Amino acid sequence: MPESSSAIESTLVENRVFEPNAATVAAARIGGMDAYHALCAEAEQDFEGFWARLARAGLVWHKPFTEVLDESNKPFYKWFQDGELNASANCLDRHMGTPTEHKTAIIFEADDGAVTKVTYKELLAKVSQLANALKAMGVQKGDRVVIYMPMTVEGVVAMQACARIGATHSVVFGGFSAKALQERIQDAGAVAVITANYQMRGGKELPLKAIVDEGLALGGCDSIKNVVVFQRTASACNMVAGRDVLMHEVMAAQSSECAPVMVGAEHPLFILYTSGSTGKPKGVQHSTAGYLLWAKQTMDWTFDLKDNDVFWCTADIGWVTGHSYVAYGPLAAGATQIVFEGVPTFPHAGRFWQTIEKHRCTIFYTAPTAIRSLIKAAETDAKVHPKNWDLTSLRILGSVGEPINPEAWMWYYRNIGGERCPVVDTFWQTETGGHMITPLPGATPLVPGSCTLALPGIITAVVDEMGNDVPNGQGGILVVKKPWPSMIRTIWGDPQRFKKSYFPEELKGYYLAGDGAVRSIDRGYFRITGRIDDVLNVSGHRMGTMEIESALVGKTDLVAEAAVVGRPDELTGEAIVAFVVLKRPVPTGDEAKALATELRNWVAKEIGPIAKPKEIRFGENLPKTRSGKIMRRLLRSLAKGEAVTQDTSTLENPHILEQLSKSN
Ligand code: WT7
Repeated sequence: MPESSSAIESTLVENRVFEPNAATVAAARIGGMDAYHALCAEAEQDFEGFWARLARAGLVWHKPFTEVLDESNKPFYKWFQDGELNASANCLDRHMGTPTEHKTAIIFEADDGAVTKVTYKELLAKVSQLANALKAMGVQKGDRVVIYMPMTVEGVVAMQACARIGATHSVVFGGFSAKALQERIQDAGAVAVITANYQMRGGKELPLKAIVDEGLALGGCDSIKNVVVFQRTASACNMVAGRDVLMHEVMAAQSSECAPVMVGAEHPLFILYTSGSTGKPKGVQHSTAGYLLWAKQTMDWTFDLKDNDVFWCTADIGWVTGHSYVAYGPLAAGATQIVFEGVPTFPHAGRFWQTIEKHRCTIFYTAPTAIRSLIKAAETDAKVHPKNWDLTSLRILGSVGEPINPEAWMWYYRNIGGERCPVVDTFWQTETGGHMITPLPGATPLVPGSCTLALPGIITAVVDEMGNDVPNGQGGILVVKKPWPSMIRTIWGDPQRFKKSYFPEELKGYYLAGDGAVRSIDRGYFRITGRIDDVLNVSGHRMGTMEIESALVGKTDLVAEAAVVGRPDELTGEAIVAFVVLKRPVPTGDEAKALATELRNWVAKEIGPIAKPKEIRFGENLPKTRSGKIMRRLLRSLAKGEAVTQDTSTLENPHILEQLSKSN
């Protein structure tokens, strides 16, 4: 099986093309490329009319909008701004009195394999109870609520309950540290935290509430009035009288009816923190109407959702993928979806395939890193090879979060999709709210490793530093030329940073994605070549190099200086390599190993285990130019173990290259 070798190829020319089959085209919402081009043409001829049509058809409005796009204060665009609606009503209430009311909304597959099913009607009752409980605590429209929850039905309920009362949620991934949590609570000025006593991952019970307590104890979180605790496991946790309440208790005291609070279209539905090129994470602020419209529309277009589909997006609700394609999109579209609590390798690396068979999953959406690690597992242990399970229920496969290398794409296509299911490689970002560039399953001829073409209404291009289009075949900067409804509205509390980061003046007002891209000569297909800023993508998780550097130099007793770079990694896409100057002589041997371990654990504590450098190298200095600038390109070469080809004549102290080229 030569295609299953997990080596990353960097093919510049990919000749394989997979056309959709006639039956898929015939049954698809956007069936065939002519239908795709017709939608693109509609958006081109009447941009606002196109979006207005989708927004009227896709969302339930309490008060219809009369204005589509307000561009009077660029780049602070407003969409459908005089319209009013509620996001939770658009995900739940809209289905009441329709056949969807009694349809399963969520199939919860717990870490230990236990299954719980919840219908739309039951979900609405739970959301309403929690919404009432939050209101009773004094949480009001516009207040921020931090959610620090495991993948559970209750995690989705928490998000929907906030939306129901017009509170803006900020979900913090359960793998982030107490300090990262505290910083986000503080930045958002949150009034409450919703968490769980513990989370179950890979058979282990891991604390969550204890981390919340630790975070709040770090100070600066006086805005927090209550902590709501979901009891995921039977184990007790610390409860602070007057502040902490148990979710099931406060819910039981409330009615299962709660009128949704109507909000303006631009009302902030959520803030989600993500990494940028400075040390401080950015609170990406999304709207209610524009965001939700696109979450639903892309369910219909990218996944061509049908009434009997069983949809499964494996992303955690702590990331944007878990917002758009777990908490909002599938519900707005009336889908039955699987919510999976566990990890792909527990109790064995066939868990995903087993779960697809168990629930007859039809649409499966996951990250390249997961695919690559499961390829490796299947190669070493035949018992977890996907051929052991019946995957014939599948009809569409999706990939998200990082470039998928053609080898992994082919393996996914053959071994999971049985050469029957289109693979939609969806390019998008926390800031874009939903898919931007992706194949359509019933239209787009697929090319492994390419996210193909932009969705109708999304005007992407590859440009040079001055914002001029570059010809196909030539690499450049990925931009979006026109605003779109689900775009980021601002960075919470920092509108200037929003403007500077995403709409630099020299780019003619285009949205700067932060990725490089190239379009194929023959088809104009996009291929993403990776970030062009100081942002790394490790296992599909976005990490700022400066964020990790400031965590490292925060260990003031030990570290004088640090520089972090990415190195290509077969499994995780990129791996973090840190170059560190200590406030003591350069260590060697066991001492170096021990100090590297200490620093890795320190970073885990400061940010979270996902930010741990894979490798730490020590030197007495960092390579700098005479003006004192760290030569990062050189460090990247050293991290890769490449011969240094850069000009090092301006280097203050060339001998440190020797030191820094060695692994501990
Ligand atoms: C960055 C955004 C998309 C939601 C999850 C990640 C990279 C994302 C792809 C893809 C190549 C991709 C980009 C992007 N990325 N999807 N299909 N092909 N690269 O969201 O954490 O905001 O990260 O992920 O570099 O800028 P995020």
